[in-house]
Parts: sequence; C-alpha cells; structure tokens
Amino acid sequence: MTIPPDIQQLIEQAAAAADRAYVPYSHYPVGAALRATDGTVFTGCNVENASYPVTICAERTALVKAVSEGRRAFDTLVVTTRNGGSPCGLCRQMLYEFAPDLRVILTDGSGKVTLDCRLSDLLPHGFGPQQLE
Ligand code: THU
Repeated sequence: MTIPPDIQQLIEQAAAAADRAYVPYSHYPVGAALRATDGTVFTGCNVENASYPVTICAERTALVKAVSEGRRAFDTLVVTTRNGGSPCGLCRQMLYEFAPDLRVILTDGSGKVTLDCRLSDLLPHGFGPQQLE
C-alpha cells in the first residue's frame, strides 16, 4: 500500500529524530514525530541517563516539546525504531491525557509501517481527565 506524502514526511522526521537519540546504555534509538491539529510537527528522541530511570522516551520528548510550545491537540504520532517497537506504558498514558483518539503509526528501520492504530487500541479503558471531573 502506498503511504500518503504527509505520513511519509512524518516517518522521515521521526527517523531523523532517532538519529539524534542519546542512547549510550541501551543502544536502542527511538524517534517520534507528533503532529498537532494545526499541522505543526514536534519531533523527539530518547535521551538516556547514567541513572537509568531518569531516561525520557522519544514520544514523551515530542509531547513535552509540543505542550510547552502551546499545543494540546494532536492527530498523528509516528514512532520509529529498528524493529517496530511499541510505545511504553508511560508514554501511552501521557499521550492519552491529550489525545485518546490519536492515530499511532509504528515503523521499522526500513521505514515500513508495522502498525497503524489508535492510541485507545494501545491503552483500552484508559484513565483520563474525564475521570476527575
Ligand atoms: N524507549 C522509548 O524511547 N520509547 C518507548 O516507548 C519505549 C522505550 C526508549 C527508552 C530507552 O532509551 C530505550 O528505548 C530502551 O528502553
């Protein structure tokens, strides 16, 4: 199936972000490209730390960049790893806060789409702001 140009661009932006990953411990680069509903794209990579739990994932890097730049609505996230790795639980939860219906596209090192789904598929029955109303 052919990939639409806008999604292809996100895949390339995620791959470029993965190239900037700081991963001296895991050697597992992750790149993310998160598109806000106004079309602005925020990229992120994983940034590891000698104190391992301090590490931040690529998806949360992109989300924090976006929110801190005033965006809170998102339509698409592309995540790139060498083997189509899926967002961790922390990232799923943090994204769910802002975009439970987010389209999530995973790609592998060759740029092939390995999964195309909704965040609510990755985090069914999620806990969100509505629970606290
Ligand atoms: N990682 C991400 O960047 N995103 C995820 O959702 C899964 C894990 C990173 C964290 C760490 O730098 C490396 O992958 C191995 O766990």
